[in-house]
Amino acid sequence: MIKRSKQLSVWIGSATLLFTVTNCSVRPDVKNPVPSASLNSPSSAGGHSQADGPATPGADSQVVIDWAYVNKTVFTPNCVKCHSAAGGNSGHINVESYANVKANIAKIEVEAITDQSMPPSGALDTSTTSVLKAWIDAGSPETIGVPTPQPVPTPIPAPDPVPVPAPIPVPIPDPIPVPTPPAVVVDYAYVNRAVFTPYCTSCHSLAAGNRGGINLETYANIKRLLKKIKREAVTDKSMPPDAPLADEVSSILDTWITAGAPETVAAP
Ligand code: HEC
Ligand code: HEC
Repeated sequence: MIKRSKQLSVWIGSATLLFTVTNCSVRPDVKNPVPSASLNSPSSAGGHSQADGPATPGADSQVVIDWAYVNKTVFTPNCVKCHSAAGGNSGHINVESYANVKANIAKIEVEAITDQSMPPSGALDTSTTSVLKAWIDAGSPETIGVPTPQPVPTPIPAPDPVPVPAPIPVPIPDPIPVPTPPAVVVDYAYVNRAVFTPYCTSCHSLAAGNRGGINLETYANIKRLLKKIKREAVTDKSMPPDAPLADEVSSILDTWITAGAPETVAAP
């Protein structure tokens, strides 16, 4: 069990305790008092540690409970019968005065809250336990001042954002210049050797019967058919019919056609 600091007030997130407080006679400013039946609301049924429970948004309240209130709601109805002069001060504990209770507060907490062995007939109900616990957690005050309304914190204006210095551009080293390859200008002889002879003239030659009425054995013939050749062999890749040209091969053809399909090129 985590002991709260010895403040006169604690922040709690329990609806149960909020209700407890709203019933507290020392809260003249309480609005909308909740009927005491709420003390037994289901949310308080799980144990005696509601004050440490998860905060319920909006339910936070400043709990202020004094001795008079705890005496009236906890000790008188549940303990005084045995722990009073008239009751024989059972266990050498007297709970009739604030001073006596205060002197035995640690034992009382153990017996009534932690071990729940007092009263002997059965543990305090959860809401009564909550009251006692909240009071003990708050430092078991005898009296409390009229609660000062919590000042609404004035929002501190967000400081102007510190200008983030523009990152110093890390100079990206110029890539080592890849020497531009001298424009590859291939001539007809090269393209004929690389493309037409190996891939086309098996069908588009005189010997093969100029399939499709196409002869690709001379520069002059090819020059006249450039558009079709490009479409068939480069764009559509429909020639050769069974095995389209590999990209490297069709690009030789494409580059050459794009360059104007020169028959010869000047030596660099
Ligand atoms: C029906 C009688 C009875 C009631 C009611 C009762 N007690 Fe007790 N209490 C005893 C007796 C008898 C002892 C001594 C024997 C024992 O410790 O069990 C005792 C012992 C204690 C002790 C001392 C334990 C110790 O270790 O010295 C504390 C503290 C205590 N009670 C607190 C309370 C509180 C708080 C309440 C009310 C919430 C309460 N009791 C209600 C009969 C009662
Ligand atoms: C296996 C035989 C064969 C090969 C190899 C071949 N072609 Fe053809 N080609 C044909 C046939 C058959 C036709 C006519 C029927 C057709 O268009 O499909 C034709 C038609 C063409 C046409 C005319 C299409 C038209 O629409 O008029 C062109 C241009 C052509 N081929 C270019 C080529 C080129 C360039 C190559 C080599 C990269 C090539 N062909 C390889 C069989 C071949």
